[in-house]
Amino acid sequence: MNSNELTRKMLTKNFGVINPESIDDYIREGGYSELEKAIKLDGKDIINEIKISDLKGRGGAAFPTGLKMEAVNQADGFPKYIICNADEGEPGNFKDRYLMENDPHQIIEGIIICAFASKINYGYFFIRGEYIKAAKIVENALEQARARGYLGDNILDSGFSFDIEIYTGAGAYVCGEEFSLLATLEGRSGRATYKPPFPTICGLYNKPTQINNVETFCNIPHILKLGGKEFKKIGTVSSTGTKLVCLSGNIRRPGLYEVELGTTIKDIIDELGMGVPRNRKIRMVQLGGASGPVIPESMLQIRLDSDEMRKHDMSFGSGAIIVMDDRIDILDILKRNIQFFHHESCGKCTPCREGLLQILILLDRFIDESAKESDLQLLEILIETISLTSICGLGQAAPTSVKKVLEYFREEFTDRIHTTASAVK
Ligand SMILES: Cc1cc2nc3c(=O)[nH]c(=O)nc-3n(C[C@H](O)[C@H](O)[C@H](O)COP(=O)(O)O)c2cc1C
Ligand code: SF4
Repeated sequence: MNSNELTRKMLTKNFGVINPESIDDYIREGGYSELEKAIKLDGKDIINEIKISDLKGRGGAAFPTGLKMEAVNQADGFPKYIICNADEGEPGNFKDRYLMENDPHQIIEGIIICAFASKINYGYFFIRGEYIKAAKIVENALEQARARGYLGDNILDSGFSFDIEIYTGAGAYVCGEEFSLLATLEGRSGRATYKPPFPTICGLYNKPTQINNVETFCNIPHILKLGGKEFKKIGTVSSTGTKLVCLSGNIRRPGLYEVELGTTIKDIIDELGMGVPRNRKIRMVQLGGASGPVIPESMLQIRLDSDEMRKHDMSFGSGAIIVMDDRIDILDILKRNIQFFHHESCGKCTPCREGLLQILILLDRFIDESAKESDLQLLEILIETISLTSICGLGQAAPTSVKKVLEYFREEFTDRIHTTASAVK
C-alpha cells in the first residue's frame, strides 16, 4: 500500500481546508448539520447509533463510548455533566492539540450531540495548560457557537440548554486521569481515587458525568452522518473507525496521520513515515506513549486492532508510535520513562510512589553493570506489584515498557549481569 491508500481522512478532512477560527468555514463543509438533525431525535436513538458503531474511547482505555453514554443517560441525578478531556500529557501524543488547533467545531459539535442525548446541561473543556494556542482557538469557537445558537439557552429552538466552559490544567500528567481531573475541576488537589463508583454514576460534584477524549467526541458527528452500521464497516471487527497516530522519534517523516484501524505498524512507519533515516535499523518501537508497550522490529506486522494486540498483552493506547533506531541504549530509554512517571506520581499510594523509585535504583545497577541475578527477580516482582496494586492507571501502566523489554529484549538486562560476574572473577 502506498501512503495515499493508507491515509483515511475523516476526522482530519478539514485540516488545511478550513480556517479553524471561522465557524462559517466549518458550516460550509457540512459542520453542525448533524447537530441540527440530532436535536430532533430521541436521545436514546442517538446513543443506540453510537452503540451500533462500536466506537471505543480514544483516550487510551478503549472503553465503548455508547455504553458510557447509556450509563450517564440512565443514571439518576441532576445536574449531569460532560467533560472533554484535552489534557494530553502522555509523552509522544499530540493528536488532540492538532484537532483543537485545526478543527475545534468538530469537537464542540460532538460534545453538544452527546450532551443532548443525555440531557446534560453543563460541559467542561479540560485543556492542558501548555496548550495556550489551542485554548484560544477553542475559546473563540465556543463564542462563535454561542452566537449562532448552537450553545446557550434553547439551542436551535429545541428547548434544550447547554454550555461549555474551558478549564486549563496546571501541568500535572496525572490530571488527565479522570478522577484526578474531577478533583482539580472541583478545586481539590489532583489525586486519583478508588473505582468504582465510576464517573458515569458519581462524577463531578458526585453527579453523573460523561468524560471522553477529544478524538472520541470528533467521531460522533461522523457516526450520525454515516449511521452506526456504515461506520462499523471502517476498521476491524474489534476496532472500528479511523485512528489518529502521532509518529515520532527516529523517522524520516514524523507527524500526525489518520489511518483506518487495522493498519499495520510497519505500513505506518515505512509508507507514511518513510522509514528511519540513513538506512539505519529499527531497534524498538513504543506504542501509545511513555506508558505503552515496546516491540522489536520482528513484531511490526502487528495491526492497530485491540483483539490482535490483546493476544500479546498490549494495546495501542491513545495512538503514539515512537520509533527508535539502533543507536539507542534501551536501558537509558527505560530510565527516562520511569523518571517521568516517578516525577508525575501524585504520591497517594505506596506502590507507585516508592516502587517506581526502587525500579530506578535497580535500573541504575544494570546501567552501571553492578546488578546481581537477584536484582532481576526483584525487578520482576516490583513490576508485578506496582501494576497490580497501584490505585490509578499512572502506576498501573508506568512499568509497562520495563516489563516488555524484559519480554522482548531480555538480554539487555542479563548481559549486564554476566559482565559483572566476569569482572568479579
Ligand atoms: C495517568 C493518566 C493520564 C491520562 N491522561 C489522559 C489524557 O490526557 N487525555 C485523555 O483523554 N485521557 C487520559 N487518560 C484516560 C482517562 O482517564 C479516561 O479514560 C479518558 O479520558 C476517557 O475517554 P475515552 O473513553 O473517550 O477514551 C489518562 C489516564 C491516566 C491513568
Ligand atoms: S498510582 Fe501513582 S498517581 Fe495514581 S494514585 Fe497512586 S501514587 Fe497517585
